[in-house]
Amino acid sequence: MTWTLPTRSGRYAVALAPRGAGLVAVGWGPDGGDGPAPVAATSSFEADLDLLPLEATALGTRNVHGAELVVRRADGLRGARLVLSGEVVLGRDDDGATHLVCPLADEVLGLGVRLHLRTHPAHDVVEKWAELHNTSEQPIELLRAWGGAFTIPAVAGAAVNLLGGAWSREFTPFEATLGAGTLSIGSRQGITSHTYAPVVTVVPAGTDAGVRYGVALAWSGSWRMTLDAVPFADHVRVAAGPDDESGVLTLAPGERLTTPALAGVRVEGDADDLAHAWHTYQATLARTRGPEHRPVVYNSWFATTFDVRVEHQLELAAAAGEVGAEVFVVDDGWFRGRTSDRAALGDWEVDLYRNPDGLGPLAAGVRALGMRFGLWVEPEAVSPDSDLYRAHPEWAHQVAGRPLETLRNQYVLNLGRPEVEEWVLGTLRRLLGDGDITYLKWDMNRSIADGGQSVLGGDDWSWRHTQAYYRILDALRAEFPRVTVEACAGGGGRIDHAVLARTDVVWPSDETGPRDRLAIQHGFLGVLPAWTMSSWVTDLPDLLDRDRDGAPASLEFRFVVAMAGVLGIGADLLAWDAATRDRASSLVALYRSVRSVVHTGRVRRHGSPADGACAVQYTGADSVVVLAWRRPGAADLTVHLRDLDPDARYRLRGDDVGTRAFTGKELGTEGFAVGWAYRDCDVVILDRV
Ligand code: GLA
Repeated sequence: MTWTLPTRSGRYAVALAPRGAGLVAVGWGPDGGDGPAPVAATSSFEADLDLLPLEATALGTRNVHGAELVVRRADGLRGARLVLSGEVVLGRDDDGATHLVCPLADEVLGLGVRLHLRTHPAHDVVEKWAELHNTSEQPIELLRAWGGAFTIPAVAGAAVNLLGGAWSREFTPFEATLGAGTLSIGSRQGITSHTYAPVVTVVPAGTDAGVRYGVALAWSGSWRMTLDAVPFADHVRVAAGPDDESGVLTLAPGERLTTPALAGVRVEGDADDLAHAWHTYQATLARTRGPEHRPVVYNSWFATTFDVRVEHQLELAAAAGEVGAEVFVVDDGWFRGRTSDRAALGDWEVDLYRNPDGLGPLAAGVRALGMRFGLWVEPEAVSPDSDLYRAHPEWAHQVAGRPLETLRNQYVLNLGRPEVEEWVLGTLRRLLGDGDITYLKWDMNRSIADGGQSVLGGDDWSWRHTQAYYRILDALRAEFPRVTVEACAGGGGRIDHAVLARTDVVWPSDETGPRDRLAIQHGFLGVLPAWTMSSWVTDLPDLLDRDRDGAPASLEFRFVVAMAGVLGIGADLLAWDAATRDRASSLVALYRSVRSVVHTGRVRRHGSPADGACAVQYTGADSVVVLAWRRPGAADLTVHLRDLDPDARYRLRGDDVGTRAFTGKELGTEGFAVGWAYRDCDVVILDRV
């Protein structure tokens, strides 16, 4: 018996494993014959289940591969032998998704596992997760609770592409070759982390050229992903879930738990085809992709840091309105006692000492200028020097009995405590309640490095913290649907599919130096969509600005970098002269004219930011936008446009060139020579005629 789940352009098929030991993948890709379940065992040292492409399995069901589920009952019984415990049901969800549920159980242990697989005709991704149910009379420790795995055919090993880095260097590409062994990435920091993005690309060597696979985890706490290549098994098994090193979950008798979802996608094509498959899936996670939740932001952080005075903010707001900002966001420094990063996190009330009339006049002034008003918050943070900490020292994540340690002079609130979750939600409700604020930048500026075990045995700290973070975001979205939420964690420290499903835009990095930013954005767009990629124009030099290239990037260069995603401005506009503001306002207008194509068009990266010149192409139904950048002295750039209709004609937009038109075929084969309208960058718009 085979069950087939159709995707946008292919299908995923599973069958029963021998002796009902779960599901085995039997087909993944374009329509065509699904093979029978592969037969694996080759010697008395491998059982028949050991190397099969099982959808999810447990230690105790088989042994050669790592297992997704490792359990231990309180009496010491370890492992689980999972067998089918009911009917496999293939159904249809209300949204048109195909949804398979496979019930498995270990009656001896007292554990039920329901495997879920889901596909949707809108995209090519297969989602997997598991629901675990303790049916025994004792607690069961979940030493590893992952929801599934993808088995990727790879006869001669595989190239594995990762995106990782550090603060201010997020989404840097790394490549590993995996012939045999296990590659493990993850975070033990209680957040997704800057170290690794929870997504990998696997390119099998020696199999059909041009096939690549992506696997991503939707989880924002500590996590782990392993790529397991057993010698001569001819595949790489990719599995992921909450980190099994830094915490342990325990299921009380009768308790249930749903694992985070793992998403897998197979494409025949290149890295941008894979990016497109991810973006198409991510479109179904977003509540909208339009400008209502992607306004042009002006954020006053770089202009004022902690010196937030209403009069000064109003002057900045007037300048921001003039250049075309749609929302004015006051960053850190607006609340009671927050004059440096050494105090006040947790005391989320307006600083009446510095601003005796509160922020009301600022919100009103901003609105009178035709903009929305937004605020920065860091709801999970608490300063040792704060009224909140003095009142509730027990609310901070801490390891029982050990002294607390600060990072950036702050602790982290343990959202896993119900009273803390309630307090955070209450605080945000109070801030948003009067309707002045319709944009929230939610920051998180340190890892939860204390391990967060507030009581002995409170080993599931990251799980609980993360679930509460989700519940709060979900509640805010339901109660304040007009409020746009930008997710930030000291830059890109918490970006994953679960965050994408609950917020509107993300801040990929604190690095805004234009050439460095271009590199970060290049990595970002390979796995994440442009409509979430917040990017600001700031003053030069930026705080790091590593890649200065001998010549400062022009104002236009900085704007075109920000135009590649959701454009914002973080510069001190009061230091800009009238001519610079004029140039800025035409650039913002230009961006607004192409915003929908940039946010929803198909993305192609031409060259890399490390090259002398590079470009990103966004192809919409009616227009194509090409953003191009070059280094001083670089050779010219001819972009061979892709994804166009070969027979259609495309006319170059612009006053003096409006009559030039090309066929899609010409633009692909001969290419388009970038004219460098702005010396070191260009914005090329081609309209389909
Ligand atoms: C973090 C953020 C910045 C800014 C500061 C404020 O570093 O990533 O954008 O909000 O905090 O303290």
